[in-house]
Formats: sequence, C-alpha cells, structure tokens
Amino acid sequence: MSPAGAAISAAVVCALLLGSSGAPSSAEITVMGMVYCDICSNNSFSTHSYFLPGVQVKMECTFKVIAPRTAEQIWFSVNRTTNNHGIYKLQLSSVDGVQCARDKQLANFCKATLISSPSSCNSPGFRTTTDQIAVKSRRANACIYSLDPLNYRPPRRDDAVCGTIPQS
Ligand SMILES: *[C@@H]1O[C@H](CO)[C@@H](O)[C@H](O)[C@H]1NC(C)=O
Ligand SMILES: *[C@@H]1O[C@H](CO)[C@@H](O)[C@H](O)[C@H]1NC(C)=O
Repeated sequence: MSPAGAAISAAVVCALLLGSSGAPSSAEITVMGMVYCDICSNNSFSTHSYFLPGVQVKMECTFKVIAPRTAEQIWFSVNRTTNNHGIYKLQLSSVDGVQCARDKQLANFCKATLISSPSSCNSPGFRTTTDQIAVKSRRANACIYSLDPLNYRPPRRDDAVCGTIPQS
C-alpha cells in the first residue's frame, strides 16, 4: 500500500473508532490575531498607531488528539497574510479527535511569528506571540484562540508626532 493509501486507511479507522465512542469527536477551531504599526516604538497602540495590512505571519499550532487508546498531538504550521484591518486568521472545521472546549488552557496552543511587512513600518517590535486567550463553547466543541497583538515599528521614531523624550 502506498504511504498515502496507508494514511487514508488510518484516518478512516480513526474516524470509525472515534465515531463509536459517543463523544463529540471533531472541533471547530479559529485562531486569530492582529498586527499594528507601533508608531512611537513604545509597544503600545497609541493615537498614531494603525493596523497593518499585507503582513505575512507564520502560525504554528499544537493540538491534543484524543483517541480511544492513544493520546497524540498534531502540530502544523501555516502562513497567513493580514487583511485590511490588520487581522490574520486561520479557520479549521471538523478537526477529528480534538476536544478543544474541554481541554485545559495549555493543552492546545498556537503561536504566531512575524515574517515580513510590505510597508515602511517594517522593523519588528513584538515579533512573536507569547500568550493566547481562549473562548470556548463546550456544547459545540468550538474554540476561538485570540493571540497577543504583534507589531512593527517605523525605521525612525518621529519626534514631531511622539515627543522628544525617547520611550523604551
Ligand atoms: C512560511 O514562510 C516562511 C518564510 O518565508 C517559509 O520559510 C515557510 O516555509 C513558509 N511555510 C509554509 C507552510 O509555507
Ligand atoms: C507611547 O508614546 C505615545 C506618544 O508619545 C504616547 O501617547 C503613549 O501614551 C505612549 N504609550 C505608553 C504605554 O507609554
């Protein structure tokens, strides 16, 4: 059997086993976050900051998979681009074996890392996320993971806009 054939067979067997367990066996998962231009380079979204469209972000997620006899993890990485509101988003439907709404806070975890910015605001500030907020619906086994905001800084701090006292 080809590797692809074996993988499909394994997936079918898993689906059958999970289907017979009676528990909700697939999850709806949304992972999202935003990127802004930290105009005064003080890691805050101030009056002059704005959301950055077109930013490439690498997202990596680990999910705990619950199968009858095994506990496994799935790990994956995808790249996304922020929309006009500076938002990047990954939506996964029917993720077999993941019970995101029941697991403890850190059993399922995603992080995002800046890759590139198309604008002149392109000096990385907060480069990678360190935390996430999870909103869970147990009944629907649906979860939204909202990641820490990321930011880029302009190459130079504009004293006319930000004041002359440099901030950390
Ligand atoms: C995401 O982008 C990075 C940097 O360009 C690249 O190294 C990586 O292979 C990309 N990952 C995917 C899944 O395309
Ligand atoms: C960052 O700098 C801007 C401009 O000087 C200021 O308005 C804002 O309050 C500062 N934010 C923090 C957290 O210091």
